[in-house]
Amino acid sequence: MVNSKSKKLRIGVLGSGSGSNMQAIIDAIEGGTLDVQIVCALSDQPGAGILQRAQRHNIPAHYLDAAPFKTKLEGSAEALYISKLKEYGAEVVVLAGFMRIVKEGLLRAFPDRVLNIHPALLPAFKGVNAWEQALEYGVKVAGCSVHFVDAGTDTGPIIIQRTVPVMDDDTSATLHARIQQEEHVAYPEALRLLAAGKLVLKGRRVVIE
Ligand code: GRF
Repeated sequence: MVNSKSKKLRIGVLGSGSGSNMQAIIDAIEGGTLDVQIVCALSDQPGAGILQRAQRHNIPAHYLDAAPFKTKLEGSAEALYISKLKEYGAEVVVLAGFMRIVKEGLLRAFPDRVLNIHPALLPAFKGVNAWEQALEYGVKVAGCSVHFVDAGTDTGPIIIQRTVPVMDDDTSATLHARIQQEEHVAYPEALRLLAAGKLVLKGRRVVIE
């Protein structure tokens, strides 16, 4: 049966860390500026803050072992994640600090419906510790990108980017903190546009209509 609640876009969140991006999404939902529902939070790390944050907001939270792989989600672990997401009726998968490369199986299960946030202005500085790469490279402007996930690593169509200045006295920690503030604006905004049906994929360009 369809009630008004179930009409909201149903989002499953995957994360390995503190979950501050998921928290920003929750805050936007609770603050009434984002009309989606987080149906579950899944983590490959048993003690991840993201699970505790979800529980505090009565969101079903599960640790799902992703062994034997360390840096990707594949095989039986991938199947486990897909079945959990489907069990909760997730329509969209939000990667929020999920430290694994997702593979074809998940992408096929949620076509053009897997999003990621990356702490750099793509296509620069793909991969891990992107803000550190940016700092070491010496860029003057850094930022974050929300993008659809494709079969590559941090290569999918870009939805939103937000920039921050790099200061002369920045450390890895201060730059990452400044980027994260923008992430917390960018992810809710991307989901707002997605939920409103305003994101249109034209080749590898995402057009906001
Ligand atoms: C963020 O910096 C995000 O860009 C990267 O992982 C980090 C996750 O942080 N993909 P949090 O767990 O949301 O606080």
